[in-house]
Amino acid sequence: MSTSHGVILLGTGSSLPERSVRNGDFPASLDTSDEWIRTRTGIRERHISAAGETSASLGLVAARRALESAQLDPADVDMIVCATVTSDMMVPANACVIQAGLGCRPIPAFDLNAACTGFLYALTVAAQFVRTGTCRRILVVGAETLSRVVDFSDRTTCVLFGDGAGAVVIGPAEADGRGEHWFRLYADGRRADLIRLNGTRLRPPASCPAEPRITDEFDFLRMNGREVFKFAVRTIIELIDESLLECKLSPSDIDLIIPHQVNQRIIDAAFADLNFPTDKLMVNLERNGNTSAASIPIALDEAMRTGRAAPGDRVLLIAFGGGLTWAGGVWTL
Ligand code: UT7
Repeated sequence: MSTSHGVILLGTGSSLPERSVRNGDFPASLDTSDEWIRTRTGIRERHISAAGETSASLGLVAARRALESAQLDPADVDMIVCATVTSDMMVPANACVIQAGLGCRPIPAFDLNAACTGFLYALTVAAQFVRTGTCRRILVVGAETLSRVVDFSDRTTCVLFGDGAGAVVIGPAEADGRGEHWFRLYADGRRADLIRLNGTRLRPPASCPAEPRITDEFDFLRMNGREVFKFAVRTIIELIDESLLECKLSPSDIDLIIPHQVNQRIIDAAFADLNFPTDKLMVNLERNGNTSAASIPIALDEAMRTGRAAPGDRVLLIAFGGGLTWAGGVWTL
């Protein structure tokens, strides 16, 4: 029995907190400026969660919207994968909270952490279950509340990040050439120190019997911005070259590139080295900042809703982030 199916995107959705923090809203004590943030990053504002708004609640709204756009019900969902580094809790996974919120029957639901590359990892993992025929409809969510883990007294990080969630539904493709054509996932743990988020520290193993609690010390997200910048530029260039080569495509065969929404200067530096028209770039970081695992599905949903992308378009997705991790995907919508 043949069990290999193509995999297609059936719908997209996203959700951003209503509250928007503009560059000029940061307090004078941070010693930053709208001019510095805009010229060094391209970011003008970012969305920050209100009380009670969490990565799971944003993910749930994005998931509902993705199901609506796919014209599917929660009962149709066979699996939920949520990419996040800011799950509401360590247990349960955000995916289980989303499952309960949607009212799905008992199905597999789990979180996945590949930092800012998480959505492409989750999408690729989910696609394997559709490809083998194990599942038909899978919700893939990227949901983050980075505002809960950045240090708002550290100007080198806090101005960069925002909150939000994006989601897609995938399913088996018809034999019409649409769907996933290519993916690559990478990690290099030797460079883990470039982006680190310890969060709340678990007690060290040796102290288990004596100290029966989690320490309340919280370590915020720390990053070597300059080194990540260089890694990101190189990675965008390499992933674009690799995808075109392996898919035997030329730049004119790609309708839209959606890179991880990190910093306009990173994207500009990469494209200065590439023979690729920049009008094929989908960039919304000026309004959302860097939303980590949510950045690509939020941008993809915006592209679909605004007509930047339409069914039949070939899109190239490019992500990179902590781990270090990086990944690419080519899909025909
Ligand atoms: O998803 C992956 C996550 N990673 C990222 O998003 C980070 C990628 N890296 C970057 O986007 C850039 O490296 C940054 C935006 C983080 C920094 O830009 P840069 O042009 O690489 O600046 P820099 O780190 O070389 O710092 C230049 C100066 C420093 O001052 P001194 O040492 O020259 O006096 C910084 O202290 O800019 C200062 N600076 C700021 N000044 C005002 C750093 N952040 C700020 C700030 N406002 N927010």
